[in-house]
Amino acid sequence: MSRSSRLFLCGFMASGKSTLGRMAAHTLGYDFVDTDHEIELSAGMPISGIFASEGETGFRNRESALVAELSGRQRIVVATGGGMVVSPRLRALLKELGPCVGLTATPAEYARRLGPNAAARRPMLQGADLTQRIAVLLAERAPAYSDLHYTVDTSFDSPEILAQRLAHIVLAEQERLPVQTPGGGSYDIILGRGLIDQLGHMLAGRGWARRAAIITDEKVGPLYAAAAQRALGQGGLDSFVATMPAGEAAKHLRTVEDLYRALAQGGVDRNTPVIALGGGVVGDTAGFVAATYLRGLPFVQVPTSLLAMADSSIGGKVGVDTSFGKNLVGAFKQPELVVADLATLASLPAVERQCGLAEIVKAGLIDGGDAWARSRAIGETSPVTAPLLDAMRLKRRIVEEDPFEKDKRAWLNLGHTFGHGLEAWSDFRIKHGQAVALGLVSRSSRFDRAWPVRCGPRR
Ligand SMILES: NC(=O)c1ccc[n+]([C@@H]2O[C@H](COP(=O)([O-])OP(=O)(O)OC[C@H]3O[C@@H](n4cnc5c(N)ncnc54)[C@H](O)[C@@H]3O)[C@@H](O)[C@H]2O)c1
Repeated sequence: MSRSSRLFLCGFMASGKSTLGRMAAHTLGYDFVDTDHEIELSAGMPISGIFASEGETGFRNRESALVAELSGRQRIVVATGGGMVVSPRLRALLKELGPCVGLTATPAEYARRLGPNAAARRPMLQGADLTQRIAVLLAERAPAYSDLHYTVDTSFDSPEILAQRLAHIVLAEQERLPVQTPGGGSYDIILGRGLIDQLGHMLAGRGWARRAAIITDEKVGPLYAAAAQRALGQGGLDSFVATMPAGEAAKHLRTVEDLYRALAQGGVDRNTPVIALGGGVVGDTAGFVAATYLRGLPFVQVPTSLLAMADSSIGGKVGVDTSFGKNLVGAFKQPELVVADLATLASLPAVERQCGLAEIVKAGLIDGGDAWARSRAIGETSPVTAPLLDAMRLKRRIVEEDPFEKDKRAWLNLGHTFGHGLEAWSDFRIKHGQAVALGLVSRSSRFDRAWPVRCGPRR
């Protein structure tokens, strides 16, 4: 069972947590849990009574105990109490347990739902104007809500449509791997099926401008760019698409300049995220554009090739080739998010799958043990999710320990010196993954000496 067989709905009063939570639970065949209701039941008194007798501290302690209990339950949709995710500690706990969705609405819509007498019933809403008071409270809570995994605006669509969207979120997300970055930041790698359809809900609420630039190539764009734009639209983000030629030969500075021009024409500002939708060539090139245009834009990786999912989308190394060497011009640009949608692999040509497998086998070799056994067992048509996850986890471990490739990260270049030479010698007719596979074979006489790499604990 995937980690995401729990869904947490968070948000302000009247955001629809209970109504939509019940409907989504029904759609999924999960149980519905309302934390406030459970706490009232176990305390034998209403929340106002708990606040009166135990204070807010007592109530939050009861919430903590309930979250601990929920960690032992699966197949649940949980409507969380209004203030629960405002507590950084409880928010972090919930985010470990499953996707957390912030439900939002406009202040005017909240005021409409709460009704004209809301202030009389709820002291925190007292003030001159109900809509204004709600806007102030929402602004206070914005940092907490923008720290959730997804945001769904409930202002406009019917409850039936919204409940379906929530159910799709929990079905799409299979794994989430947080990656620590230098300077104390972090980003998530999300692996699942149907994730491109959730892009808008993933990016909405992150405080970025409402416009996104999708950089893709001429093969991947026709397949997935429209779906990505549709999804961004659902999250309230306007978007435009800049398309580069496909293949390694396009990974150079002339393409970068064309992309700068497309961003300028698209009216990009410093808050416009660049979304790399494609294989490693798109990821490396778009990442370099994101690192340098306007001295840096938010960057999101949506890898669509197996190689890009297993390797190139993780760790922030971006760049382009030159006439005198591969990957010689580049930067370290950490993504805000890596969204690996397994559904895109259905259209990946067989030879590109083999290229991705080369990087997965490389990771298995470096990691050793079960990962090596799993990567060796992959056949022509066998499922790749488990060895792909092994490769992602290994890459995460190594880039967390050595983000700037001063030491262990160089191990990921296993087979690459020979491979890069082969790629260049063949004028890139030999693909990167094929060249890596040949490079690995060229190193095989030394395999028994140095593996596995000693690096941080497995997670
Ligand atoms: N930055 C890093 O850390 C890192 C690590 C490893 C490799 N790389 C780089 O990655 C690049 C290789 O990546 P790649 O193998 O993904 O190459 P690629 O981006 O050229 O993709 C291979 C081909 O598959 C097509 N494609 C991609 N996804 C598809 C899909 N879902 N359906 C149909 N077609 C699809 C692309 O259009 C392209 O023609 C190299 O440039 C290499 O240097 C970078």
